[in-house]
Amino acid sequence: MAAPAPVVPDEDPSFDELLALRPHLSVAIDSGLLVEGVPLARIAAEQGTPTWVYAASPITGRYHALAGALAEAGLDARIHYAMKANDALAVVRLLGSLGAGADVVSGGEFLAARAAGIAPADIVFSGVGKTDAELRLALAAGVGQINVESAEELAMLGAIADGMGVRAPVALRVNPDVDAGTHAKITTGRAENKFGIPIDTARDLYARAANAPGISVRGVAVHIGSQITALAPYRAAYARLAELVRGLRAEGLPVERVDCGGGLGIAYRNEPAPSPAAFAHMLRETLGGLDLPLMLEPGRWLVGPAGLLLARVILEKQGAAHRFVILDAAMNDLIRPSLYEAWHAIVPVSPSRWHARLSPAEVVGPVCESGDSFARARMLPGLPAGALVAILDAGAYGAVMSSTYNARPLAGAVMVRGTDVAVIRRRQTHEALLGQDVIPSWLASG
Ligand code: LLP
Repeated sequence: MAAPAPVVPDEDPSFDELLALRPHLSVAIDSGLLVEGVPLARIAAEQGTPTWVYAASPITGRYHALAGALAEAGLDARIHYAMKANDALAVVRLLGSLGAGADVVSGGEFLAARAAGIAPADIVFSGVGKTDAELRLALAAGVGQINVESAEELAMLGAIADGMGVRAPVALRVNPDVDAGTHAKITTGRAENKFGIPIDTARDLYARAANAPGISVRGVAVHIGSQITALAPYRAAYARLAELVRGLRAEGLPVERVDCGGGLGIAYRNEPAPSPAAFAHMLRETLGGLDLPLMLEPGRWLVGPAGLLLARVILEKQGAAHRFVILDAAMNDLIRPSLYEAWHAIVPVSPSRWHARLSPAEVVGPVCESGDSFARARMLPGLPAGALVAILDAGAYGAVMSSTYNARPLAGAVMVRGTDVAVIRRRQTHEALLGQDVIPSWLASG
């Protein structure tokens, strides 16, 4: 039997390579790592750590790049930012000011979108289980579109809207049974997933929706998963969607728009992420022939690369088998590495650390679980107590997935624009955290 081929681990990108692909980050000999024009060391001194740091310019730049590529491909396409990726009002407002609508998945996100200045008509309400109260809230405000995910939900929504004397603007989210080739926990377009209406039954349901009281059916929607780095799954899903639309039209059913969902991946490490131009070209090839307005729901692609988590080393500990770098950030702040084995770049802030000798380190937080890890066997210099590190590409699914596990208050957030730093979310205080709790009177005395 032939010897198995040796496993050659492909190397992580160097610090210089990481920065070369992230133009809003740079390094200066005196002040270390900068976000736009602001040294991260200054932000840490003023705000403490851990702190989320979002740069405005990449958000603006990426929105324009995507919108520009869609326009260049001759598509009439509108971007609805999936605010589950980052629901900071400042982030939503920035994208809204550029022309984005919002894709929301809860009453809370709906209210946040409104608070950020997004008009109700520019909001799409997605999600597999919307409550009666959430649907009423959205309908009363004049929501632009509700993506319905089942026959049961269609009936529920129709009854609510009819009772309110309105007609709900609806798109049917279909499940195209396509494997997005992404992490199992974030794939959504397989038949076995909980999402969407099986594509084979969508035509019948659409016909029913067209005549249902309280419903004004406008189109179809699809979303196959997140962090998709290949175009083939999109191509397959959109081809099936186009076929469905043609079938609906052949039956004389009106289709006004197609919601293409989100999911476009980014390069965290060295993934070959599709360019906006390639994505737009694929959309044109698959859906362009329908000559319908398209809607897109990107989240991660717009905001992921724009954010980082700034943390301080509590101490370095030499364990029996590993060197541990213990940060003051933890899995309660950024859970992606623990939950999905996600790779995030970790870069020292101090320039003196950049050219020091590298050796493998386990980068962990102080939470009492072995799963509280940011990186395994990561090549890093010695990082003494007090050193700062930036965990990159944490602008999407970072702060929004935080918890207060281990009674750790939620970290604050700043937005940097040029040389300006604005606090956009205050750090939660211990008082606020404890203040949610109530001790019943029968326990209070004694
Ligand atoms: N539209 C719908 C209906 C969605 O469910 C999602 C994401 C999006 C749009 C936006 O997808 P994006 O463009 O951001 O990939 N927490 C995971 C990601 C979960 C995505 C859930 N749905 C992570 O950290 O990777």
